[in-house]
Amino acid sequence: MENFTFYNPVKLIFGKGQLDKLPEEASKYGKKILLVYGGGSIKRNGVYDNIISKLDEIEAEVHELSGVEPNPRVSTVRKGIDICKSENIEFLIAAGGGSTIDATKAIAAGAKTETDIWDIVTKKEKAKDALPFGTVLTISATGSEMNRGSVLTNWETHEKHGWGSPYTYPKFSILDPAHTFSVPREQTVYGMVDIMSHVLEHYFHHTRNTPVQDRFCESILRTIIETAPKLLDDLENYEHRETVMLSGTLALNDMLNMGYRGDWGTHNLEHAVSAVHDIPHGGGLAILFPNWMRYVLDKDNAYRFKQLAERVFDIDTSGKSDYDAAVEGIERLRDFWISIGAPATLGDYGIDEASIEEMADKTVIARPEYGNLKKLTRDDSVNILKSSL
Ligand code: NZQ
Ligand code: ZN
Repeated sequence: MENFTFYNPVKLIFGKGQLDKLPEEASKYGKKILLVYGGGSIKRNGVYDNIISKLDEIEAEVHELSGVEPNPRVSTVRKGIDICKSENIEFLIAAGGGSTIDATKAIAAGAKTETDIWDIVTKKEKAKDALPFGTVLTISATGSEMNRGSVLTNWETHEKHGWGSPYTYPKFSILDPAHTFSVPREQTVYGMVDIMSHVLEHYFHHTRNTPVQDRFCESILRTIIETAPKLLDDLENYEHRETVMLSGTLALNDMLNMGYRGDWGTHNLEHAVSAVHDIPHGGGLAILFPNWMRYVLDKDNAYRFKQLAERVFDIDTSGKSDYDAAVEGIERLRDFWISIGAPATLGDYGIDEASIEEMADKTVIARPEYGNLKKLTRDDSVNILKSSL
C-alpha cells in the first residue's frame, strides 16, 4: 500500500423514518435555509412535504431553488449563489440525487466568495470556505452524499468537470431507502451501473498488497450483481433498496481506496460524452467501461482483470491465460449490464461518428493525459469512443 490519511467528517443518518432527525440536525446551523432540489420528483413522492413540515418544527425561514438539472449546470448554481447572498442564507439542504447535491456543494462554496464558481470548478481558484449544508438523498448512485466531490456542466462551453474541497463535505446526510422507492426502473439501473463503476475505477491500479481493499470492492460488486435483478422485479422492496443505498455510499466515500489511487479514466471519458450530449451518467458508463477495459488490458495488468473474473463472476480460469480469463470477465460484465437494461453503444443514445472528435477534445481539457492504470491521450479517447459506437 501507499501511505494515506483518511478523513471523512460526514454524519450518516441511515434508515426508515430518519427524516425525523432533520429538525435537530438542521437547527445546529441556522434557521435561514435554502432548500435545493431538482425537477420535481420530491414533490410527487411526498419528500418535499415531509421536509417542509420538519422544518416548520424549528420555525425555519425556507427559501427554495428548484430545477437543478440532471448533469447540473453552472448557470443554475449561480442562481443559488445569488439567493444565498441576497437572503443571507445560513444553511442549505439538498434534497435529491447527485446532481442536486453537487449543485448544492457549489452553491455553498460560491456563497462565500466573490470569485466566479466556474473558476473554482476549473481549478483556476480554490474554494476557501463554504456555507454548511446537509443532504436528503433520494436516489442511490453517486456517493456524493458522503464525499466532497461535485461535478458541474457549463452548457455554454460544453464542459463538464469534477472538483471538490475540504469545505464541501455535507454536515450530515439522511438516507432513507424508502425515499428511493419512486426512482424509475431506468434511473435505478443507471444508479447501479454508476455504483459498480466507482468500485471498478478503484479496482484497477498498480499498487501491490491491497487484499482488504480488493475484497471490499469485490463484495460490493457481487452484492449489486446479486441484488439488481431482484430489485428490478420489485422496485419498492425496502431491503433491496437499502442494500443498494449503502453500496452506493460505500463505493465513493474514500473507504475503498485507502492506500492506493484508482484509475478514473472512464469517468473522464463519460464526462466528455455527457458534456456534449447530456446523457445520463450511468448510461454512459455502461457503454464505455467494458470498452475501456478491453482497450487498456495488456499482459502486464491482466492479472487484475483475471482476479475480477474469478472472484466476482466465478469464472473458472484453470488452463486459461490471464489475458483470456480477463477478456471473459470483461464480457460477463458487459452482458450483466445489458441483462439489466443498460445501454451498450453510443448509438443507443443516437450518438454517431460525427461528434467523436469533439468529445475526444473534452477528455483532455483539464490535462493532456488521464487515467492511472494506463495513461491515455486524446488519440486513445478517439479509439475508445469509436469502439463504443
Ligand atoms: O430532478 P428530479 O425531478 O429530482 O428527478 C431526478 C432526475 O431526473 C430523478 N430522481 C431522483 N430521485 C428520485 C428521482 N425520480 C423519482 N424518485 C426519486 N426518489 O432521477 C434523475 C437523475 O437524478 P440525478 O441527481 O441526476 O442522478 P445521479 O444521482 O445519478 O447524479 C448524476 C450526477 O452526478 C455526477 C454525474 O456526473 C451527474 O452529473 N456525479 C457525481 C459524483 C460525485 N459528486 O461524487 C460522482 C459521480 O461519478 C458522478 O460523476
Ligand atoms: Zn460516477
